[in-house]
Amino acid sequence: MRVAMIGAGYVGLVSGACFADFGHRVTCVDKDAEKIAALKRGEMPIYEPGLAELVAKNVREQRLSFTTSLADAVKGVAAVFIAVGTPSRPADGLADLSYVYQAAREIAGVMDGYAVIVTKSTVPVGTGDEIARIIADVQPNADLSVVSNPEFLREGAAIADFMAPDRVVIGTDDERAREVMHELYLPLARKQTPILFTQRRGAELIKYAANAFLATKITFINEIADLCEQASADVEEVAHGIGLDHRIGPKFLNAGPGYGGSCFPKDLLALLKAGLDFGVPIRSIETIISINDQRKRAMARRIIAACGGSIRGRTIAMLGLTFKANTDDMRESPSIAIVTALQDAGAKVRAYDPQGMEHARSILSAVDYAGDAYACAEGADALVVMTEWDMFRALDLGRIKSLLKRPIVVDLRNIFRPEEMAKHGFAYVSVGRPQIGKA
Ligand code: UGA
Repeated sequence: MRVAMIGAGYVGLVSGACFADFGHRVTCVDKDAEKIAALKRGEMPIYEPGLAELVAKNVREQRLSFTTSLADAVKGVAAVFIAVGTPSRPADGLADLSYVYQAAREIAGVMDGYAVIVTKSTVPVGTGDEIARIIADVQPNADLSVVSNPEFLREGAAIADFMAPDRVVIGTDDERAREVMHELYLPLARKQTPILFTQRRGAELIKYAANAFLATKITFINEIADLCEQASADVEEVAHGIGLDHRIGPKFLNAGPGYGGSCFPKDLLALLKAGLDFGVPIRSIETIISINDQRKRAMARRIIAACGGSIRGRTIAMLGLTFKANTDDMRESPSIAIVTALQDAGAKVRAYDPQGMEHARSILSAVDYAGDAYACAEGADALVVMTEWDMFRALDLGRIKSLLKRPIVVDLRNIFRPEEMAKHGFAYVSVGRPQIGKA
């Protein structure tokens, strides 16, 4: 089947490469000529494990290509995916749909046979209706179906999430569109992946509701972690104990510094605004957003307290800056607010992240960037674990202790075991677990 993917960003590139790997012929389109030229040279615009190899394989086998020409890409295809960005509008927090609508206009202007127009971008409920209206405006006789097919890809695990998803959601009540979509996802249907056909508006809402629910789960366990600290309980035991209940499930119950990234913060805000527009204020979402925002500065206060109450003139070593491991993405990372708060309190911050430093440099300019974790720790007054990179779990703790000026570790991801930290003689503060030693 021939497919065009409009937008060669995170979602477009991963989805395009995976559809090609299913055996379809995919053309990825992007207006950014530099990005397309780089992709043609085999250079990835993002860090995503396995993506470069998957792209190279499918380019070599001639199922995947790149172009800046939307008109060339959509000629004769069965499906056109819209996978452009939908950032938050600074003015009101609503999703900015201008790129989506622009793509719809351009597609409508050049299509000549039947095709399915599929939104992969995260779009508010009702956007599919607007796309259908735009298409009818540009080409009243266009024979196109508009379908919602949200993505549920996690950065860092996006290829596995595409190839082995919990479910595929397809929003349409048009029979022809169903057939096209079914064929596109046939390799997954054959592996017994649930392919869920819903109405278009239902599919649009499923995406937002899923992200909001996951963010709620994280925020809930973060608050339980705060309670555990005061009540001398261990949040990991509590999370394990509740997660074994199938109605709750064990995932997304890792307490930490608060959620970040390019999706949860933006999508919760958009859902909140959509609720208000429909006259249905979703108070739980409002509360989740506010708790998560406040948590970041609370983490900075925790670091200051672990250092004895003042960090003026001190050096804080920070391991990890990205919003989670296995990505170079700094968008809405809790590290941004935490580093800023530490600097406001008079500390110098030195940081190391295996993938995120290039992006971090443009956001956090007054930070010293180290070449590795040990160089980061050298002579620092405390070490903070911000992101749960596997390489940090394997650090030589004896060496870290000898490098630090004061043996204080604040582990915001609970990557170390308290007993082990006690054995090495650290003052160790983690999240939702008893504190070990004192600064
Ligand atoms: C999220 C969803 O998980 C995907 O299903 C969705 O497709 C994607 O958004 C999207 O809308 O495009 P992602 O933003 O890549 O994916 O990252 P997550 O793995 O969901 O993590 C989000 C944040 O929650 C991170 O800051 C992470 O550190 C935090 N988190 C996650 C926790 O603090 N605890 C957990 O147990 C899990």
